[in-house]
Amino acid sequence: MKRKIYLDFAATTPVDPRVKKAMEPYFSKEFGNTMSLHSFGQEAKTALEESREIVADLMGAKPNEVIFTSSATEANNFALKGIAFANKDRGNHIIISSIEHPCIIESANWLKTQGFEITKIKVNKQGVVDLKELENSIKKETILVSIMHANNEIGTIEPIEKISKIIKTQSQKLKTKIYFHTDAAQTFGKIPVNVKKLEVDLMTVSAHKMYGPKGVGALFIKEGTKIIPLLHGGGHEMGLRSSTVNVPGIVGFAKACQISKKEMENEAKRLKKLKEKLVKGVLNKVKGSHFVGDLKNSLPNVANFWFEGVEGESIVIELDLLGIAVSTGSACSSEKLQASHVLLACGLKPWQAHGSLRVSLGRFTKEKDIDYFLKVLPKVIENLRKISPFKGNFES
Ligand SMILES: Cc1ncc(COP(=O)(O)O)c(C=O)c1O
Repeated sequence: MKRKIYLDFAATTPVDPRVKKAMEPYFSKEFGNTMSLHSFGQEAKTALEESREIVADLMGAKPNEVIFTSSATEANNFALKGIAFANKDRGNHIIISSIEHPCIIESANWLKTQGFEITKIKVNKQGVVDLKELENSIKKETILVSIMHANNEIGTIEPIEKISKIIKTQSQKLKTKIYFHTDAAQTFGKIPVNVKKLEVDLMTVSAHKMYGPKGVGALFIKEGTKIIPLLHGGGHEMGLRSSTVNVPGIVGFAKACQISKKEMENEAKRLKKLKEKLVKGVLNKVKGSHFVGDLKNSLPNVANFWFEGVEGESIVIELDLLGIAVSTGSACSSEKLQASHVLLACGLKPWQAHGSLRVSLGRFTKEKDIDYFLKVLPKVIENLRKISPFKGNFES
């Protein structure tokens, strides 16, 4: 039987069997609607509130500061649009980074059509936000800054604590309130994430990135934050997110948080070692290969490379034929092949960014998986270069 190796944990993770087990009763046995007064409803409500406490605990928040959503995409839309429209009497300026996830960038682009002004802050070669530019961009009209905790393509961790200090200092000088949001979809459950330590007002998380189910996310909203809901209706989630609550999913998210709380520290150390082996192995074995990101300050499980003279998509397809699942930074649009905005922001030329490959490890990755990847990759690159119109000096 063909070997199957999944090295795309930044895209999504499998549901941990312990999570699946915790969710099971809530599909057909404890299926009540949390808004119902009868015992079915009240049992579901109890499960919801217990889950809220567990999720809040992992992020260092109060339970009433956690609003469950359908995804990180929804939480990010909620943060940007909810803050923008609730505070537009004070200003119309929003700052994001140039390497945010598309759900932040596209929300910001849409807000621009609604009269908001958007500033996108540059990053350096490692993908770290330019703090000086950020400081200089803050003005009286600024109402929100949204900078991701770690980037999903290259794994770089942003200096969130330094950023919150800059925002605080500038808002005191300007005598205004500037909210700070961070998208922690890639960090929550993998490295310590504490809203008090990070000093953020809003934070996005997602269950399926941390061995929980798809279709569940949450937005941390610090008490006292002025925000309006995206979804209006029955007044669920403290009036901030109407819609019948996804109890099985939320119970699964909470179980995933409990597991991460116990296992995160050791797991991060294990993954860091595997990642170091992976990065060294690729750079040693494949000539014309380059690492993108910040080795010192990055997620323990994400590594990004680009290879001279080959396209990332071709590598993904060839590796898939060999049973290995990885991904590329480039995204195919119907019109043209677009290079990743993250890699371009890090200074890569489009032809370099097209050769990109993201390898992301996780809870079920074994050392032998990395060995196999390192064994087959050089030949895959060599074969692709033979048929590539781009000829370089990179015999592997
Ligand atoms: C940084 C980041 N933000 C947001 C998202 C969107 O997450 P979801 O799939 O929960 O909508 C992702 C997922 O790719 C991500 O990596």
